[in-house]
Amino acid sequence: MHIPAITGTGVFTPEQVITNEELVVAFNAYADRFNDAHAEAITAGEIAPKEHSSPEFILNASGIEQRYVLDKSGVLDPDVMHPNLRMRGDDEPGIMAEMAMDACRKALAQSGRNPEQVDLVICAASNHERPYPAVAIEIQKLLGAGGFAFDMNVACSSATFGIQAAADMIRSGSVRCALVVSPEICSGHLEWRDRDCHFIFGDVCTALVLERAEDAEDGLFLIQSTRCATQFSNNIRNNNGYLRRTRAGHMTDRRDMLFMQEGRKVFKEVLPLVSDHIRQHLEDEGINPDGLKRLWLHQANKTMNDFIGRKVMGRVPEAQEQPNILQDYANTSSAGSIIAFSKFSDDLVRGDTGLICSFGAGYSVGSVLVERA
Ligand code: COA
Repeated sequence: MHIPAITGTGVFTPEQVITNEELVVAFNAYADRFNDAHAEAITAGEIAPKEHSSPEFILNASGIEQRYVLDKSGVLDPDVMHPNLRMRGDDEPGIMAEMAMDACRKALAQSGRNPEQVDLVICAASNHERPYPAVAIEIQKLLGAGGFAFDMNVACSSATFGIQAAADMIRSGSVRCALVVSPEICSGHLEWRDRDCHFIFGDVCTALVLERAEDAEDGLFLIQSTRCATQFSNNIRNNNGYLRRTRAGHMTDRRDMLFMQEGRKVFKEVLPLVSDHIRQHLEDEGINPDGLKRLWLHQANKTMNDFIGRKVMGRVPEAQEQPNILQDYANTSSAGSIIAFSKFSDDLVRGDTGLICSFGAGYSVGSVLVERA
């Protein structure tokens, strides 16, 4: 058995930013146009008018101040309200693979590995550009990596479940060096016309290099253990599957073809699930929660993270113990906890332990216990 270690991280951050204020101006213009266009039906009580959104609500309810996106022009156009992403031809790299190149190269540079030394690529994300060929295999080819590659999707927990899959293969000896890459184009599956959730998501891509600790240089994070759990729930759902096309109706007008959630229920149900999961994971590993140097949590909602941090540590964590990035990036699905890990782990010293944890649709929760070596 080999000990798996994380030896490099990379984050691709899109250049375009949408602030809450910009987002709300666009949303309110869309709502006004909708209400004007449906004035008669609204007056007759047949449909409800669209209410205005507000930057104050967004910040208070979520802790989000802005989000990065691949294209803001479409999202901020009240007549469009979705990103304008150029569809790629079959003979050019897909958008996910393109984002992945940047994140993977940064992660490989940090780990001191060449792409040829990689023998596993997992593309772990909440949505994939196409069913096949796997985006991971395209990334493998563009990088010049060897071995094999596959896609996986566990929504917001994709990256941690991907880490467990790669770590298990490294432990058993079937692979030597793996990339777990999470290109999350959340702007593509968000309904920007829905006031309840239009502020939630942003785009990003993260990458992690995992390899045998014995092959690695200094500064690595040993993966002590991983733990994944799932429990079915409809409270976060997207029905845009390939069988839906056979149904009558205009797919693009169907609300259930994009991200939907019962935000309040998610909030209430996921909190105990995640806190209990983490505490049990730590207890089974003989780790005192108060001794954890860092919690890199999924980034969906600040109040939620504050609650989990308090519950796990048994006290209010110091800001540096539980870093948040969602004020800048918003919810980036599976990539959120990895962004936090990538940006806030350098200062840990030998022997320090920390825990990466993601959670979301499924429901799913994945935790990765690491120790600085
Ligand atoms: N601007 C202004 N007001 C808004 C608004 C907006 N954009 N969206 C909702 N509101 C209003 C609602 O109409 C409601 O008004 P009412 O009390 O008069 O009925 C009020 O604000 C509260 O709405 P609610 O949806 O209950 O807000 P919330 O406090 O639950 O916050 C979320 C919403 C989505 C931020 C929160 O539920 C959450 O983060 N849930 C978990 C999300 C999660 O982790 N999802 C996983 C995704 S992968």
